[in-house]
Amino acid sequence: MKTEKKIRIEDYRRADYPIEPLFLERWSPRAMSGEDLTEQDFFMLFEAARWAPSTYNEQEWLFLYARRDTPSWPVFFDLLVEGNRAWCKNAALLVVIVAHKVFNKTGQPNPVHLFDCGNAFENLALQGSSMGLVVHGMQGFDYEKARVVLKVPDDYAVAAMFAAGRPGDPSDLPENLRSREVPTGRKPVRDIICEGAFRKK
Ligand SMILES: Cc1cc2nc3c(=O)[nH]c(=O)nc-3n(C[C@H](O)[C@H](O)[C@H](O)COP(=O)(O)O)c2cc1C
Repeated sequence: MKTEKKIRIEDYRRADYPIEPLFLERWSPRAMSGEDLTEQDFFMLFEAARWAPSTYNEQEWLFLYARRDTPSWPVFFDLLVEGNRAWCKNAALLVVIVAHKVFNKTGQPNPVHLFDCGNAFENLALQGSSMGLVVHGMQGFDYEKARVVLKVPDDYAVAAMFAAGRPGDPSDLPENLRSREVPTGRKPVRDIICEGAFRKK
């Protein structure tokens, strides 16, 4: 019988200042079970993304998705680099986030199209983690191929992908990923802030 070691976040992460626990509890596991998400779970993830802030409330994100065991699945899966395929094979959902590069009303460039998509992704990731799901962002895929096979128009940027699913057993991961299946730490807060003009940290 497999004995699954439950991750205790506090063994890996401590905030130096008191913050809401949900920030520490969200991390990016790779082990997934291969089970599907319920319709409710699926829509709850995107509902959280929906409420993210964006410039002028532009909501310039669009989530192209494939659920496992559907005709779209192999199309999305084939976009991934080998290293990501190794664990995404047990995901329930693969998503390509695309961002409208220009404002809907004016057609003028929107300088924060990717930034806003990041907001939406983080909302979704926090929601997923609070539901006990895995949500894992990815840049390890073929951006150009994604544009072509998913017919992404020129006025949209391909921003990132993510995988989501039900948590699985880390011992089923390839050896090189098993030891990395733990929450990571962060730089101290003083290393990410700078009073006044830019100074290299
Ligand atoms: C936009 C983005 C792209 C990422 N790309 C990959 C990837 O291609 N493959 C991978 O295994 N992890 C990827 N990650 C996961 C990061 O490595 C991970 O978020 C980071 O190490 C911090 O760990 P945590 O999310 O567990 O806190 C990506 C994360 C983000 C947000």
